[in-house]
Amino acid sequence: MPMRAVDIIAKKRDGLALTTEEIEFFIQGYTRGDIPDYQAAAWAMAVLLRGMTDREVTDLTLSMAHSGEILDLSDVVKPVADKHSTGGVGDKVTLALAPLVAAAGQPIGKMSGRGLGFSGGTLDKLESIPGWRAELSIEAFKKQLAEIGIVVAGQTANLAPADKKLYALRDVTATVPSMALIASSVMSKKLAAGADVILLDVKSGNGAFMETVEEAAELARLMVSIGNMAGRTVAARVTDMNQPLGFAVGNALEVKEAIATLKGEGPPDFTELILTESAHLLHMCGRVSSVEEGRRRVEEVLQNGQALRKFQVFVAYQGGDPRVADDPDRVLEAASVVLPLTSPQAGYLKEVRARTFGEVTVKLGGGREKKGDPIDHRVGVVLNAKIGDWVDAGQVLCHIHARTRAEAEAAAQELLTAYAWSETPVEPPALIKMTISH
Ligand code: URA
Repeated sequence: MPMRAVDIIAKKRDGLALTTEEIEFFIQGYTRGDIPDYQAAAWAMAVLLRGMTDREVTDLTLSMAHSGEILDLSDVVKPVADKHSTGGVGDKVTLALAPLVAAAGQPIGKMSGRGLGFSGGTLDKLESIPGWRAELSIEAFKKQLAEIGIVVAGQTANLAPADKKLYALRDVTATVPSMALIASSVMSKKLAAGADVILLDVKSGNGAFMETVEEAAELARLMVSIGNMAGRTVAARVTDMNQPLGFAVGNALEVKEAIATLKGEGPPDFTELILTESAHLLHMCGRVSSVEEGRRRVEEVLQNGQALRKFQVFVAYQGGDPRVADDPDRVLEAASVVLPLTSPQAGYLKEVRARTFGEVTVKLGGGREKKGDPIDHRVGVVLNAKIGDWVDAGQVLCHIHARTRAEAEAAAQELLTAYAWSETPVEPPALIKMTISH
C-alpha cells in the first residue's frame, strides 16, 4: 500500500511515533508541493500537541536539511561560525554579533529567518535598509564569505526549502511553540548552511516560545545533541526573554539600535549579551585561547570602529545603502506617529512583559497575520525603562511608533497591561541563565 499523508497525520494525532520513512515521505512530499498546506498544517498541529521522540526529531531535522542542497564551505574558509536564536522580542543579536565576530577575524555565514508569531526575524529587520537583499545564490554566499567574512542570507538558495515552507506555515497556524518543530527548524538550517561551529541562543520567558528555563534547557540539549551527531561543534546559551532585549522592538528601530551598539552607544543588557556571545564563539572556533581573550578582541573591534565598518561592508555587499551605518536616521524610514506612553503610577518596574511588546508590534503592522503578508518596517516600540528601574507617575515608559494615531492609541492601551510595579526594589533578571555545551 502506498503511503498517504492523511494516515501519517492520523498516526501523529493519535500520539504514535512516526517511522523514519513516514517522516521522509511527508517532508519531501510537502517540499515538492505534493502534500498541500492544509495537510501540513494539520500535521504540524498534531506534532505540537503530541510531541516527538528524540529519534523522530533527529529524522525530521535530517529530512528537512536534505530537502535541498547541503552547503560545503570547506573549500572557502574553515571553520565557519554560525549563531542562531530560537526567537524573541527585540532580539537583534545577529545584527551586532555577526559584524563583531567577523571584524575579530572569524568568518561567519548564516541563514536567518523572518518574523515568527510575536517574535521578530533578522531578515525582516535587515530589509528595513533600502536595497538590502536576503536572497543569495550559493555561489554568491560562498564568494561573500571568502571576500568579507560575513553573510546573513535567506533560504532561497535551495537550502532547507522544507523549513522555509513549514516556517511560514507555522507562523500563521499557531504551531510555532513546539519543541520538535523548533529544534528541527533551527538545526536543519544550521546543518544545510554548512557551519562548523554553532552557538545557539535559546530564549526563555514570556517573550520566547519556551517559557520556562527547564523547557528552554531541554530544547537546548536536543539541538546540541542533533548538532553533535552531525559532527558540528555546538553550544547553547539559555538567555532571558521576560522583557524585550535592549530598548527597541520593531524592524527599522532595531536596526538603528544595533548600529548604535556598534558605535558603543547601545543598551547595557544588549551590549553585554553580544560581547559575551561573540567572545564565546571566537573561543569555540579556536581563534583565541580563552573566553577572556575573546572578550578583549571583541571589545577592541567595537571600540576602534572595525565592527561598524564590517557591518557597513556587509550591508553594501547585499545591495543595501551603506550610508545607514553612519546616518541611520537619514536612510531608515520612520513612522509618522510617535506616541509616548506614560506611567500611571510610581514604583519599581517588576514586569515589562516581552510578549505583549511583540504582539503589539505585529498589530502595528511590523509582523504578519497571514503567510506572505507585507510588513511595515517603521513601526514598533522603544522602551525608556526596564525591569528594576524606578519610574515616577507621569514618566515616559516607552514611545510607540505607528502609522496612525488610532493605531498608536490602541497599542498604548494594550501595552499598559505589559507593566507591573512594585513599591520595593526589584532585581533585573539575569540575562544568561545556563550554558550547555554537550
Ligand atoms: N527559529 C527558527 O529558525 N525556527 C523556529 O522554529 C523558531 C525559531
